[in-house]
Amino acid sequence: MRVFLGVTGASGAPYAARLLESLVGAGCDVGLTVSAAGIQVLGTELYGDPALPRDEVLDRFAGHLGAAVTTYGIQDYSSPYASGSAKVDGYVVCPCSMSTVGTLATGAMANLIHRAASVALKERRKLVLVPRETPLSSIHLRGLATLNDAGAVILFAAPGFYHGAKTVDDLVDFIVARCLDQLGIDHSLTARWGQ
Ligand SMILES: Cc1cc2nc3c(=O)[nH]c(=O)nc-3n(C[C@H](O)[C@H](O)[C@H](O)COP(=O)(O)O)c2cc1C
Repeated sequence: MRVFLGVTGASGAPYAARLLESLVGAGCDVGLTVSAAGIQVLGTELYGDPALPRDEVLDRFAGHLGAAVTTYGIQDYSSPYASGSAKVDGYVVCPCSMSTVGTLATGAMANLIHRAASVALKERRKLVLVPRETPLSSIHLRGLATLNDAGAVILFAAPGFYHGAKTVDDLVDFIVARCLDQLGIDHSLTARWGQ
């Protein structure tokens, strides 16, 4: 299975790290792109240094996962994910900033993450957005509704506690499990309610 993962500058880097590892663990071929703000958030939330250089962040984030992950520059429109002609099974933007929500909702495409998400919508392919912001303005809400109407799955980074979460990892797994479910990927990250 071929999956695009865009990482933008909303809080939630642990979701992105766990999702990437889970996709690779499930045998996916992953195309990864991280925005400039995404690099800053990964540096801050995973490695304790908001000023860590892009190459260093990407090496720590994906370097240990080998050939299953191909990393593309944020403006690399020669990437297969920039075109609907490439066969791609699913697209996820996790975490997804409100800036990216706003851009996508207008149809604008200022970087490869926007372009890949727009391709997913126009080709009627699975697009999962994992936004994180609170509270939300009417601008945010309208943008999210527009994207939902266009076919995106809005999978808010709002973990539930009903599985008896005890650790932050449990909460991270809750969201990652929902993402994998949306992509049709089997996992055992969380128990299934009623089973
Ligand atoms: C540490 C940090 C945390 C942030 N958290 C959020 C957030 O949770 N949600 C959000 O919409 N923006 C957040 N931002 C702001 C975005 O990074 C900013 O709007 C940026 O322009 C997003 O660009 P991008 O969508 O290209 O990544 C955060 C920024 C930083 C540095």
